[in-house]
Amino acid sequence: EPPLRRLAAPHGLALGTAVDLTALAEDPAYRAWVAEQFDTVTAENAMKWAELEPTRGRYEWGPTDAFFAFAQANGQRVRGHTLVWHNQNPAWLADVPPDELGDVLKTHVQTTVRRFKGRVWQWDVVNEAFEDDGTLRDTVWLRALGPGYLADAFRWAHEADPDALLFYNDYDVEDVNAKSDGVYDLVRELVRQDVPIHGVGVQAHCSVRHAPTTLPENLRRFDALGLHTAVTEADVRVALPSDPVKSQAQANVYRSLLRACLLTPRCLSFTVWGYTDKYSWVPGWFEGEGAAGILDENFAAKPADRALREDL
Ligand code: XIL
Repeated sequence: EPPLRRLAAPHGLALGTAVDLTALAEDPAYRAWVAEQFDTVTAENAMKWAELEPTRGRYEWGPTDAFFAFAQANGQRVRGHTLVWHNQNPAWLADVPPDELGDVLKTHVQTTVRRFKGRVWQWDVVNEAFEDDGTLRDTVWLRALGPGYLADAFRWAHEADPDALLFYNDYDVEDVNAKSDGVYDLVRELVRQDVPIHGVGVQAHCSVRHAPTTLPENLRRFDALGLHTAVTEADVRVALPSDPVKSQAQANVYRSLLRACLLTPRCLSFTVWGYTDKYSWVPGWFEGEGAAGILDENFAAKPADRALREDL
């Protein structure tokens, strides 16, 4: 059976997964599948600010360096995730006076991007900056810096690594809806102002009960702005316990996500947010739901794995 990455290659599409660095270090079966199957890898948590700079001014690059070494050894490109977000920030940030937050954020963005200059394919520069209604989310960044922080973040990142592709990334923006309209208006404006933004990532944390229906149209409108797109964090959860009917429904959702990407000329990569249920974040975050990956807890392929292969 050829690996997913080989099946995807003729389409010019990179297949990716989020990687749990603990599992990567400790579980040989987990490690082998990441190494074999995927073209691109995203650290599930290790490149978030709280992990990189737990104490102000003291960066801990070790785990991330190991991750980059793994990717390089396996010919994989890295999606950097993520620079500007309201979650998983270091605790010390709460003690920074508001008038210093701009400098602190700029330093964080540029220190991190420079550290991995030339080694990150796509950066999720800003993550989850919108509310469901399409307005900007009320975060520490919006409050302290105003809406200009988004353009600034892209400019800072671009200055630090002019070759990296810079993405805006969010969830529940798969369909054409109020939230994706908000994102669309923002990125169109950034493009118009020549802000260095190169792509939009749709996370695609889906459930079989709320599967996106208009992803192709939505990706197409971003594509038409000349931007890249990517599916960055696909998973499809079901109400537990799963059963064959739910697994089949899940396969159909994965298939539709992949097809949307294949239909979009500048869709660069399709990344699943963990490929096996063994290490999935879903049961810990969505009560009563899980089994969201393409392999089960024993690394056995589900219909979703077959569906992706059939469509490639
Ligand atoms: C999740 C990780 O998978 C979990 O391990 C962690 O506890 C919380 O964050 N959107 C994102 C990701 O952009 O960074 C999140 O990852 C899932 C939702």
